[in-house]
Amino acid sequence: MSDAGRPSVALVPVAADGLPAEVAGKAARRVPDYLSRTYRWAYLDRRMLYWLDRPAVVSAILWGNAGRLMSAAASCFDQGQSVLQAAAVYGDFSRRLAHRLGEDGRLEVVDVAPLQIANLRRKLRGRNNVSARLHDLRLPLSRRYDGICCFFLLHEVPAESRAHIVDNLLAGVGEGGRVVFVDYHRPRRGHPLRLPMRWIFSRFEPFAESLLDQDIAALATRRGDFEWRRTLYFGGMYQLVVATAGPRRAAAGDRESSASR
Ligand SMILES: C[S@@+](CC[C@H](N)C(=O)[O-])C[C@H]1O[C@@H](n2cnc3c(N)ncnc32)[C@H](O)[C@@H]1O
Repeated sequence: MSDAGRPSVALVPVAADGLPAEVAGKAARRVPDYLSRTYRWAYLDRRMLYWLDRPAVVSAILWGNAGRLMSAAASCFDQGQSVLQAAAVYGDFSRRLAHRLGEDGRLEVVDVAPLQIANLRRKLRGRNNVSARLHDLRLPLSRRYDGICCFFLLHEVPAESRAHIVDNLLAGVGEGGRVVFVDYHRPRRGHPLRLPMRWIFSRFEPFAESLLDQDIAALATRRGDFEWRRTLYFGGMYQLVVATAGPRRAAAGDRESSASR
């Protein structure tokens, strides 16, 4: 996709979590506090990686829904596109996405944890159309893509970082580009897993509860520049949200960015 016709979304340096812009570069090189405090065991510990990075484990964690959620997300993109995967995912998600894009397409995966990037590079070795690099998604992306896929990241970040991440991802596509979010959602009343999930979240995933009733579109500063579509799965426990960029409506606010929240 060429740059012509792309909405001119701001690509100015912005602060992450209140940090002045001049230290944003340093922030990009360190693991966020919320990650090391809450998810060290899951993403920063080499021993756990061995157990967690298996399709069967990912499938169990998602109550057997991993395959269909991954397929639904991958099907939002087309052969030959350049797509960003916003954060590493255990199991075979990146492989599926790369397969969907084909040899002419390109998948770039970014993650803030060096261990995850090293693991991705190991897993995806030999694939010409995939690359992985360190990046903190609370900071703006340095380029644009045809599409972006954010698979179960938003429930793992504090609410204030979530809005920065959503804005930064939306700024990463041009007109017609899609940003796809797959994540938890509040299950319907009477869902047999409602209580077990509440317990799991309270024990292991402290930021998840705040996402369940959150309209992801409402987090976006430029909500109106996108067409939003949401599909619920598994009794409402999971959501797939597709934001498709339309033509920009207003020239005013061109310099607006996640820093202005
Ligand atoms: C995509 S999420 C959850 C994926 C899912 N639980 C799975 O099966 O792997 C996990 C990843 O998000 C990464 N992450 C968390 N905060 C991030 C940030 N601000 N920028 C980039 N990556 C981030 C973590 O390092 C971790 O590798």
